[in-house]
Amino acid sequence: MPSTKIAGIGFYVPEKVVTNFDLMRHMDTTDEWIQERSGIVERRYVERHEETTASIGAKAARIAIERAGITKEEVDFIVFATLSPDYFFPGCGVLMQRELGITHTEIGALDIRNQCSGFVYGLTVADQFVRSGMYKNVLLVGAEVHSMGLDFTTRGRNVSVLFGDGAGAVVLQPTDEPGQGILTSKLHSDGTHAEQLALICPGAHGGYHAKKMGMDVDFGFDENLEFGELFVTQKMLDDAMTYPVMDGQLVFKTAVTKFPEVIREVLDDQGLSVADIDLFIPHQANLRISQFVQRKLGLPDGKVWNNIQRYGNTTAATIPIALCEAWEAGKVKKGDLVCIAAFGSGFTWAASLIRW
Ligand code: UT7
Repeated sequence: MPSTKIAGIGFYVPEKVVTNFDLMRHMDTTDEWIQERSGIVERRYVERHEETTASIGAKAARIAIERAGITKEEVDFIVFATLSPDYFFPGCGVLMQRELGITHTEIGALDIRNQCSGFVYGLTVADQFVRSGMYKNVLLVGAEVHSMGLDFTTRGRNVSVLFGDGAGAVVLQPTDEPGQGILTSKLHSDGTHAEQLALICPGAHGGYHAKKMGMDVDFGFDENLEFGELFVTQKMLDDAMTYPVMDGQLVFKTAVTKFPEVIREVLDDQGLSVADIDLFIPHQANLRISQFVQRKLGLPDGKVWNNIQRYGNTTAATIPIALCEAWEAGKVKKGDLVCIAAFGSGFTWAASLIRW
């Protein structure tokens, strides 16, 4: 059975740079607070209504396709990971297919909704398709446009300062070269804290989960309706419920435990140790989380790639953007062992080992 290699990689970040000082004009925050707590100095935002998650995904994809040495017509499957889709449905996979001008229908498109771990989950799904021989050129994209959906008032500052827009893409192909490609992946989930990092409204829940969890929250649903549901109520809009919510401290504490656990799990699976890792690319949620994990594993600075300082947290896109930057900088060479790992909403977390 062949294994799966990354044959081409690309990324795109919008041109518009938004600094912490720019955000200070909209909310009560400081450059010092943001840098001290998260390491973020600036992030990128799309030109409103001119770029979307699918369109920036396509920009990254074109680069990955060219670097893989194939034509867009040769892509036989698309996996698109995002939490900020252009539409509720259909997913960004088909929108990006159209954007890329792939008009033949001998192709499938799948959207992955695993937030911060979306890229690692997507990689694992794509890996199965390639290994089984079902597809030969899988285009995997992680892309986000957060800037259209954050609360830029002081009320939303704990979340909005952290996120940025961007996209990363890889083309995955089979390889028969012994020991090359994706060696292993481990995926985890725990729904206990689903609402602690979430965008709850709009949705079709009708308050079900809140009632079940004993939460005291009124979404403003019209209980007199005979059928159906209102996705968006006036109360949701008035009370700013249509923005993401996050218990930052819980997420932080859980992340610093789960990252090292899942990294050790993939290493153990392959009989490898931390010293064998040539490059570690953590999901860019917070520079403090990445540094904590690095220290816990005992990895030197030269073996970890962080770029949250420049792009903020681009959720499903952080790992492919960072991997591409590191590759372009000559930090990933043939034969290197690359470890990628992510933790986030769900909670879900995951890691993969890739022999380049
Ligand atoms: O990929 C997504 C996964 N997300 C994460 O991994 C995020 C994990 N969590 C974190 O990164 C951190 O918890 C944050 C950076 C979000 C927050 O840092 P913290 O040290 O946990 O701060 P905190 O939430 O405990 O808030 C401390 C104070 C509060 O004020 P009081 O109550 O002490 O007066 C907040 O209101 O900081 C205040 N605060 C802010 N101040 C200035 C919250 N956000 C801001 C802000 N600017 N942007």
